[in-house]
Amino acid sequence: MDPAQFGISTLPLQHSPYTSISPSTLAGTNAGKVALITGAGQGIGAAIAQALAQSGAAIAILDLNVDNLLRTKQACLSHGVKVEGFACDVTDAEKIKEVFNQVERQLGPIDILVNNAGIFDQRPFIMSTFDGFWRQIEVNFKAPLMLIHEILPHMRARGEGCIINIASRSGTVDVPMTLGYVTSKAALIRATHTLQKEMELDGLDPAIHIYALHPGGVKTAMGGAAAASDVKEKYGDITDEEFFKHLFKDGPSLCGQTCAWLATGRGKELRGFFLDCRQDVAKLLEYGRERLQKENRNTLTVNFIEGYCNEP
Ligand SMILES: NC(=O)c1ccc[n+]([C@@H]2O[C@H](COP(=O)([O-])OP(=O)(O)OC[C@H]3O[C@@H](n4cnc5c(N)ncnc54)[C@H](O)[C@@H]3O)[C@@H](O)[C@H]2O)c1
Repeated sequence: MDPAQFGISTLPLQHSPYTSISPSTLAGTNAGKVALITGAGQGIGAAIAQALAQSGAAIAILDLNVDNLLRTKQACLSHGVKVEGFACDVTDAEKIKEVFNQVERQLGPIDILVNNAGIFDQRPFIMSTFDGFWRQIEVNFKAPLMLIHEILPHMRARGEGCIINIASRSGTVDVPMTLGYVTSKAALIRATHTLQKEMELDGLDPAIHIYALHPGGVKTAMGGAAAASDVKEKYGDITDEEFFKHLFKDGPSLCGQTCAWLATGRGKELRGFFLDCRQDVAKLLEYGRERLQKENRNTLTVNFIEGYCNEP
């Protein structure tokens, strides 16, 4: 891959929290709210939970891994907020209903939902089992939508809420060997755009605000990991390639703090959009919602040749 084919930003990209979204700027801004974060045992999800806790929200964290949940719980508790951890698989519909009820009882109604849990299996479609391919769609797309379906009636009844879907830049480009991942993330971005429009139907826009985020390239168990040995044997190890070594340079707190900022409602003008956490939110706000919409920015779109439009 030649990274230059995508262009090189002329505005500086952020790699760690900056003034608008810094912990000190956001201190106490989410006090009194309840946030639920999936896949919060490690990596980006753990950073999102900590950022929301530091901004004052009570925290419900979900993950498959109990030990990791406990670690994140301790880190969140150090910010003096209530925290509850739930070992669960986000694709388990019955368990999710149970967890939501428990969260309501123990912490109160959920104000902020962050769909972060995700999986990635780097292999060509033809080297995947169909079930392995489909599992990525289930965890990365079906589960977030299932959680949204469960929570939206409550948010609608209360007339407010914030939903953040951790998508990926991968959902906007074609990346061989990642079919399950790119298609699940593209679907999640499209769902974000369309769901926000559905909020308009019942006068719940902008009270319920929904976002899709690219967290940046973050070195985690997933980000920057090597492919499985059978794939490496056939195609070589992509992690050896020079460009790859420079891709995962963003801290997890960049996404964590962006989520805490969005949860405050300060970024409501960006609702419904796909946001890259490396881009300064102040610059996007300055650009303006109307102009972003008019120019089809920050949205999955198609570009026909001059003269042809994507008409209905
Ligand atoms: N790391 C990156 O560079 C990067 C880039 C773009 C997008 N993302 C997205 O960010 C999110 C977090 O990724 P990460 O890099 O922190 O990965 P990670 O593998 O470190 O963490 C993912 C977490 O999700 C949990 N999880 C996975 N399946 C689950 C399930 N079925 N039920 C409950 N929990 C489950 C895991 O146990 C783990 O704690 C993912 O949605 C990922 O697609 C990451």
